[in-house]
Amino acid sequence: MIDPRPTVRVLRGPLLRFLDDPGEDDRPAEGSVEYLEDAALWLEDGRVRAVGAYEALAPFLPEGIEVVDYTGKLMMPGFIDSHVHYVQLDILASYGRQLLDWLNDYTFPEECRFAKRAHGEAVAEAFLDEQLRAGTTTAQVFCTSHPQSVDAFFSAARRRGLRMLAGKVLMDRNAPATLTDSVASGVADSERLIADWHGKDRLGYSLTPRFAPTSTAAQLEATGGILRTAPDLHLQTHLAENAGEIAWVSELFPEERDYLAVYERFGLVGPTSTFAHGIHLDQAMRERLAGAGANIAFCPTSNLFLGSGLFDRLACREAGLATSLASDVGAGTDLCGFASLKAAYQVGQLLGQPLTAWQGFYRLTLGNARALRLDRHIGGLHLGQEADVVVLDPAATPLLARRTGRIGTTGGLDQARLGEWLFTLMMLGDDRSIFATWAGGECVHRREGVSRK
Ligand code: GUN
Ligand code: ZN
Repeated sequence: MIDPRPTVRVLRGPLLRFLDDPGEDDRPAEGSVEYLEDAALWLEDGRVRAVGAYEALAPFLPEGIEVVDYTGKLMMPGFIDSHVHYVQLDILASYGRQLLDWLNDYTFPEECRFAKRAHGEAVAEAFLDEQLRAGTTTAQVFCTSHPQSVDAFFSAARRRGLRMLAGKVLMDRNAPATLTDSVASGVADSERLIADWHGKDRLGYSLTPRFAPTSTAAQLEATGGILRTAPDLHLQTHLAENAGEIAWVSELFPEERDYLAVYERFGLVGPTSTFAHGIHLDQAMRERLAGAGANIAFCPTSNLFLGSGLFDRLACREAGLATSLASDVGAGTDLCGFASLKAAYQVGQLLGQPLTAWQGFYRLTLGNARALRLDRHIGGLHLGQEADVVVLDPAATPLLARRTGRIGTTGGLDQARLGEWLFTLMMLGDDRSIFATWAGGECVHRREGVSRK
């Protein structure tokens, strides 16, 4: 029987969220960040009913309401991963190749396994377990070219009440026959999946042409046709990740002036488009992407792992081009947002543009929500928004406890100390620092050894 009572709870503890882009300076832009030392997050039916200082909200809380105490922890909006391949979970850490050989030697053989629905179901569950353990409550996800891999993923995400974007890979050439579709079947399968899943609960569909080398012009054209008639769909693909890839695109599409022009020609570059990597772009290309309102998914662990290159984040900012932050597992080495932050910081150091903790945590939360055009739903924990929360433990390991303890919290954290504290967490944190994860107002992960929510 369905319980007619609304699910109501209060999460109490320190809360950090972003109201705007904090910029690149050591100090966050005025009004861009809100930190409440002792907050109440009042959740009702999966959404935020109220948020504010606990003292101020306490008189209004219903009598007997369950209060989950996160004193000594830090609550933030759930983390977001703008680009990840769930189907590559089991080829993480595959040795010694760069992009095109890595695809042929490891990725395509692995993706063949998803012809079996049961395989997709098992991997989808394992992947979502890992994501929630890492505090990630929303992701934009590549499945394989098999529609059943998408059904498996969306079914699992829906059962867990998650906001997720995903799509079937479109790929009608330059891949094993068992993985390729055709223009007609790619369109038919995508349309069926859109009808079944797009807008269902918290799910959204992302059209997913893998990248220009594995789609014919006809397939890219057909994909653009779907997007034109349904602009609320997302689109995800790869762009300018690797030198060999770029040379191949210019052989395959000799009539186009550059790689981006291929996607532009078919109407694939728009405000809901995410281009993974975008490492090797010139400033004019960045400006064209910015003009269309698209975003580049910066995948630092993947870019380092495959030796693809150093992503120039600030050149994008200069062009007005939105960047999001992503794991890109399985080329990426870790599903956890902390790993992406750490690698992004190190890439930034090599380019003379170190990532501040403000900018880093903004990217994982509101920044990614904005880049993916999901910020009306998630990323800010505002009134009426969806209640996806990650609870961080600043003393998760003896070393973290030692390092954050040195900063101290006596008398409350002023902005400078909070910045140092966040940076410590960003550099030393990993999935052990994820104390709990909430999605849609429910606790969906609790770190092992934690008996209470
Ligand atoms: N380019 C085309 N497909 C892929 C993929 O699966 N991973 C990465 N990193 N790049 C790609
Ligand atoms: Zn990718």
